[in-house]
Amino acid sequence: MTKATHAGVFQLGSRSVTRMGYGAMQLAGPQVFGPPRDHAGALAVLRAAIESGINHIDTSDFYGPHITNQIIREALHPYGDDLTIVTKVGAKRGSDGSWNVANSAAELESAVHDNLRNLGLDVLDVVNLRLMFSTHGPAEGDLEPQLTALAELQAKGLIRHIGLSNVLPEQVVQGRSITDIVCVQNMYNLAHRHDDALIDSLAADGIAYVPFFPLGGFSPLQADALNHAAEQCKATPMQVALAWLLQRSPNILLIPGTSSVTHLQQNIASVDLQLPAELLASLEGIGAVPA
Ligand SMILES: NC(=O)c1ccc[n+]([C@@H]2O[C@H](COP(=O)([O-])OP(=O)(O)OC[C@H]3O[C@@H](n4cnc5c(N)ncnc54)[C@H](OP(=O)(O)O)[C@@H]3O)[C@@H](O)[C@H]2O)c1
Repeated sequence: MTKATHAGVFQLGSRSVTRMGYGAMQLAGPQVFGPPRDHAGALAVLRAAIESGINHIDTSDFYGPHITNQIIREALHPYGDDLTIVTKVGAKRGSDGSWNVANSAAELESAVHDNLRNLGLDVLDVVNLRLMFSTHGPAEGDLEPQLTALAELQAKGLIRHIGLSNVLPEQVVQGRSITDIVCVQNMYNLAHRHDDALIDSLAADGIAYVPFFPLGGFSPLQADALNHAAEQCKATPMQVALAWLLQRSPNILLIPGTSSVTHLQQNIASVDLQLPAELLASLEGIGAVPA
């Protein structure tokens, strides 16, 4: 069976993580709200991920809310020493499932404690400050108050490392002037490549880039070139999309989300898929960013 370790590891601050990880957002109910339809199935996916060698899980306490973290705890606690759980703060859910900004110092501290309690941890490995995003992408804004608040929680020993999510390149520059940033988590996939230059600059500095929606998220990737490449290398289109990301840059860490053990295993198998140069070239047109 393919092991997640085949794609190698990356140093996320003091933590060594497999480049093939797992994103837990799909383990909550519809619209990332409420309990999953299949609780036992959610536990099975998490346990299968660990058995396959994955040691990097992406989550947040606002998935559910609380429920995804509680499922991670139920499935995997006590955690192995090498498991790195990355979470994010900066939003909260309304009673109708809406996503709302929650990034005052008090709200960030409360979110860190929610994550610690629901995951059953004394310290969080990595906390991403997540800004709100829309179909237009990240929004401009000063990160100084929020990152100062997170750095204080880090100094208290509640957080090991800090990352950023849904940010513009200039916000990454500002963030790095305030505190050490170990990862940036933005939307990026074959069809959505606005962060190409950012990925390259982070790679040069040894900082991880973690694309969310690597498979297209709520609108799975669809393209003739992708189907053609999949046929050529006897893989599925989703496997080609993941293999392309792994080949795109060594600082890219994958967190594809799934509620299915079958899909999880297909995703992990993509680490053994090497796309030849002519197929990589044939995929270029999918994500061409208009000049
Ligand atoms: N920072 C942020 O603002 C932010 C935003 C969104 C997500 N995230 C993080 O990023 C992670 C990944 O994003 P995502 O889960 O939303 O989107 P994704 O990984 O791009 O795609 C997930 C979708 O693809 C399907 N899928 C997964 N593997 C498949 C396969 N092998 N074949 C066919 N379909 C497959 C899943 O359905 P099944 O369940 O049926 O497999 C699900 O509908 C999340 O889990 C979350 O941790 C972060």
